Amino acid sequence: MNDMERGRKFMQSPVFGEVMSASDQSKGIPNPPHSKPVTGEVTELPPFGGAVTRPEYTDLLDIRRSERIYTQTPMTQEQLAFMLWSMQSIQMYRAANHVAVLRTVPSAGARHPFELYAAVRDVTGLKPGFYRYAPLLNIGEKRVSIEFLKEFDDYEQQITQMLSGQSFAAKAAAVLFISCKPYHGEWRYVEAAHRVMLVDVGHIGQNAMLSAAALGLGSCCFGAYDQQFCDTTLDFDGINEYTVYAVSVGEAQSE
Ligand SMILES: Cc1cc2nc3c(=O)[nH]c(=O)nc-3n(C[C@H](O)[C@H](O)[C@H](O)COP(=O)(O)O)c2cc1C
Repeated sequence: MNDMERGRKFMQSPVFGEVMSASDQSKGIPNPPHSKPVTGEVTELPPFGGAVTRPEYTDLLDIRRSERIYTQTPMTQEQLAFMLWSMQSIQMYRAANHVAVLRTVPSAGARHPFELYAAVRDVTGLKPGFYRYAPLLNIGEKRVSIEFLKEFDDYEQQITQMLSGQSFAAKAAAVLFISCKPYHGEWRYVEAAHRVMLVDVGHIGQNAMLSAAALGLGSCCFGAYDQQFCDTTLDFDGINEYTVYAVSVGEAQSE
């Protein structure tokens, strides 16, 4: 099989209902934690209730567009909170044994094998730098807490290189990076996990774009990124956690 044939095969679903190796779930191995532990300085962002200015769903579908030119207007903390909440917040535990959680996006088997990070360039009152969304701190709440990870070395250079030379992203107020923790999917779906994890992440991207539109902001999704540079910058090992998607967000320059 050549690479293209392998890629085509990867998109198909040959193992569900056929031969799938025994999963760790079926062996009684405990579920991995729903999100990474918080070790850094935590900021609880203000409630985002008033941040949505375009609430009409039909409107959102109609106005959503990939926006690549941003003004230098900062985002508010409420707007950032709404973006993160809509992309990955935990609404409730699904089962009494807390083996699964339900979030604002669907995920195959309710695995949700992701973490969400924000590279904050210009959000009013927030120290610029890399943050991680900490959804376990506000389960079932319309509240958002973020954990500060580190400062930028050189924002423009880092974001541009992370996104494979797409320098326009460095003008956005923030860039949100989504990582995958593959074992969370493999725990249940073994070899069948990977295709559906990529399908999952598309839902997160769509929520991000519709939410940005609801806030009156522009956004753009990124499938082109520098895997190794993103992973190194965000301190992922590239095996148990690695970058799978990114979304820039900020006020779009009207044409
Ligand atoms: C999976 C995926 C990856 C994408 N990657 C990039 C990217 O790396 N850079 C970029 O500028 N746009 C990227 N886009 C945006 C598309 O180019 C855009 O959705 C398309 O041109 C249609 O425009 P619209 O989103 O305004 O409808 C990506 C979109 C998706 C769904």
